[in-house]
Amino acid sequence: MSSKPTPDIDRTRRAQAQAQPNIALIKYWGKRDLALNLPVVGSLSITLESLWTRTAVQFDPALDADTFLLDGRRDDGQLRRVAKCLDLLRARAGVDYRAKVESSNNFPTGAGLASSASGFAALIVAGNAALGLNLSLAEQSILARRCSGSAARSIFGGYVEWSCGTRADGTDSLARPLLDADAWPLRVVVAITSKKEKAIGSTEGMNRTADTSPYQQAWIDSQEADLVTARAALAQRDFEALADISEHSCLKMHALALAAKPGLLYWNAATVDCMHRVRALRAAGVPVFFTIDAGPQLKAVCEPQAAAAVAAALREIPGVLDVVETGLGGPAQLIAAHQQVAA
Ligand code: PMV
Repeated sequence: MSSKPTPDIDRTRRAQAQAQPNIALIKYWGKRDLALNLPVVGSLSITLESLWTRTAVQFDPALDADTFLLDGRRDDGQLRRVAKCLDLLRARAGVDYRAKVESSNNFPTGAGLASSASGFAALIVAGNAALGLNLSLAEQSILARRCSGSAARSIFGGYVEWSCGTRADGTDSLARPLLDADAWPLRVVVAITSKKEKAIGSTEGMNRTADTSPYQQAWIDSQEADLVTARAALAQRDFEALADISEHSCLKMHALALAAKPGLLYWNAATVDCMHRVRALRAAGVPVFFTIDAGPQLKAVCEPQAAAAVAAALREIPGVLDVVETGLGGPAQLIAAHQQVAA
């Protein structure tokens, strides 16, 4: 991907980008700096292929306020977060034009499908082009991180690691690609068990966990070993090893959050049934494992030849409303049809 804007995009200060959500296999949970959105641990993820956010942004000196439309409707609830992201872009460009942001998702928003990751990655890539900033991918990852932690990872495709970093200013906490999607083309089957927005967002959940969970320090202390194991599994394309460490990281994150006061329980009955089903399939020799984020959807990661059987097994479970299958995808990028977005 080139971050170089076309002259048309430059002139109109308008651009459109697409990004895909990512799913962490080694989870991020907890912030060491709230303002800069710095994590207490590193994390490792896969970027998806067929779920996407498309975001168009237009900076316009004639506007007197930012506006945000999601799926064609004004979303004033999210506007503050979007405006904060626009402020970061404006500060880099040294301008103060307000902007109109129009975004659409082809999947449910805010229900544990990482819509904030794809949403803010798309906004940073579009904003970078619209303002002619010409930022490197590393800089775009850092800016995306400040809007939503996991968005740092959706700048890249395939297998991605987001470093915790140690610097107070966050300049070493960014994502980098580890392996292209094509290098190990696993598939992901998402079992959607609720289409409602989650009750407790990840920032609130992380803060409550850090303040009250007795397991917070153990979580931090054990993360590097999990990352080492996962990197080795990737290097060797060792599915069993990746399955074991990914389920461990997922269950450890949920155990940490469950032990907060009050406990954070993101699963419903169908989520738990899906976990048992995935484990039974693996015990029967099907190459599949699960992971779950701060919501009730279960993501089953499998080898390509197992995807149809995994999807069929999850579809049968009562409470599974829908099953979505996807491969692993590429990085966030400008949408090529510039004429559509240029005035
Ligand atoms: O980026 P956020 O603030 O939406 O947090 C994401 C947290 C998890 O999805 C639960 C884990 C992860 O690493 O993506």
